[in-house]
Amino acid sequence: MAKHEESAVPIFSSLDPVYGEGSHLAEAQRRFDVLKAKFNEVFGDSPQVFARSPGRVNLIGEHIDYEGYSVLPMAIRQDTIIAIRKRETQEGQHQLRIANVNEKYSMCTYPADPDQEIDLKNHKWGHYFICGYKGFHEYAKSKGVDLGSPVGLDVLVDGIVPTGSGLSSSAAFVCSSTIAIMAVFSQNFAKKELAQLTCECERHIGTQSGGMDQAISVMAKNGFAELIDFNPVRATDVKLPDGGSFVIAHSLAESQKAVTAATNYNNRVVECRLASIILGIKLGMEPKEAVTKVKTLSDVEGLCVSFAGDRGSSDPVLAVKEFLKEEPYTAEEIEKIIEEKLPSVLGNDPTSLAVLNAAKHFKLHQRAAHVYSEARRVHAFKDTVYSTLSDEDKLKKLGDLMNESHYSCSVLYECSCPELEELVNVCRENGALGARLTGAGWGGCAVALVKEPSASRFITSVKEEFYGKRVEKGVVKEEDMEQYLFASKPSSGAAIFKF
Ligand code: GLA
Repeated sequence: MAKHEESAVPIFSSLDPVYGEGSHLAEAQRRFDVLKAKFNEVFGDSPQVFARSPGRVNLIGEHIDYEGYSVLPMAIRQDTIIAIRKRETQEGQHQLRIANVNEKYSMCTYPADPDQEIDLKNHKWGHYFICGYKGFHEYAKSKGVDLGSPVGLDVLVDGIVPTGSGLSSSAAFVCSSTIAIMAVFSQNFAKKELAQLTCECERHIGTQSGGMDQAISVMAKNGFAELIDFNPVRATDVKLPDGGSFVIAHSLAESQKAVTAATNYNNRVVECRLASIILGIKLGMEPKEAVTKVKTLSDVEGLCVSFAGDRGSSDPVLAVKEFLKEEPYTAEEIEKIIEEKLPSVLGNDPTSLAVLNAAKHFKLHQRAAHVYSEARRVHAFKDTVYSTLSDEDKLKKLGDLMNESHYSCSVLYECSCPELEELVNVCRENGALGARLTGAGWGGCAVALVKEPSASRFITSVKEEFYGKRVEKGVVKEEDMEQYLFASKPSSGAAIFKF
C-alpha cells in the first residue's frame, strides 16, 4: 500500500466516507445542498466538482513548525467546502468570481492571471482563494504541467471553521481552494506535495507560517492525531489514549494572524532566525557563514546539544542560557554580533522589513528557550502515548505536558492574552487534566484535555464560568455557544467530491 502521504487526495461520490453518519452527515448534506442551489442561483450553472478541507486543533508543538520541529495536531470536523466550475468565455473576459454562502462576505472578482500580485494593503476575504490559485499555477508550472491559457472560474465557498479562532480557518480555506482548482483542472498531486505547496500558497497572504496547518488539513485521518515532521513533510498516525476527550473553547478574542503579522507572528519568526544566527556564531561559526547557512533554531541544535554534552546534558537550552542574554536585544547590538545590517540579513523581504520597522527590541533568549523546550515536549507527548503506562496515567502526563506548553507560550513566547489566560485557568479549575492555548495565540481558542466521563459536566461549568458573563454583556449569543465550546474527535482530511 502506498504510504499515506504518497497517496493523492481521495475522490468520493458520496459524503459518508468523510462525514460518517447521523447528525454530522445530515448537516453536511444540508450544506452541500445549499451550496449546489446557491451556485446555480449566483452563476446560472451547476458546479463541476467540490473540495473540502478541515480546520485543526494543535494538541502540542506551538510556534515550532517554522523552526523545523515536529508538531502534533488533529483535524476537527469543521471545514471549508468549495464548489467550482470553469467558465470558458471569450478572450479578455476571463475572471475569477468568488462568492460565499455567508452574506457577510460579498463577491470578490479577480483577473484570471496567475501571476497577479495580491493587494496586501487592502485585505479581502477572497485573497485566500488567490493564494491557492497562484500557488497551484506556480507548482503546476514547476512540474511542467500544461494548463492551457487562463480560463475564468466560478467559485462558491462555505466555511464553518470560526475565523480568528486559532483553528486554522485560513488553512482550511487555502487548502480547499487549491484542491478545488487542482480538481477542476483534472490534476491530483500526492498529499505530501500538496501539504508543501499549500503552505507556500498561504505565504502569499504575508505570514511566514510553517506548514503545520496545511499538512494536517491535507493529510489527516479519521480517528488519529498526527505527528507532523517537516523537510520533507511526513505524517505519522497517533492514536490517542482511551478515556480522554479534547474540548475546544474560544476565548472570544479574535486573532487576526495576517493583519497583526508584523508585531506578532512574523516578529517571532524573525526573532528565532536572529537567535539561531547568534547561537551559531557563539558556538564557533564565522558570522558570514552563520548568516548564509543558519535559517532556523533546528539548524544550530546540533551545536547546542554538543555544547550541553560537554556539560553532561543533552538539553540545547543550556546553550541558550549561556549565550543569549535575558534582557532584550536592540537591533544595533545584534548587528554588532552578526556583522551585518538586519534588513540585509533578512533578505530585504517586505514582510521581514515590516517586522524590523515595528520592533522596539528582540527577546532572543526567551524565544529560543521556548522553541527548544516545546520541541522536546512534542516528543515526550508522543512517547507517552506509546508508553506502557495505564491510559489514566498517560492522560495525566499528557495534561501536564499541555500545561507546561501553555506556560512556555505565555511567559517565554508571549503569544497569549488576558482572555486566554482566564479561559485556561477556568478549564483547569474545572478539572481539566491540562489546558493550553492552541494555534498562533494572541486570542483564539484553548484546548483542554478532560476525562471523557466528565466532559459534559466540564463543558457546562466552563459555559457558566467563562461565557455566562459574556452572554450577559452581549459579547456572544447563547444560541451560538456550540460554535465556541465543543468536544472534538480527530476527523478526516481533505477530499474531492464528484457527484
Ligand atoms: C499558525 C501557523 C502555523 C503554526 C502556528 C503556531 O497556525 O499557520 O504554521 O506556526 O501558528 O504553532
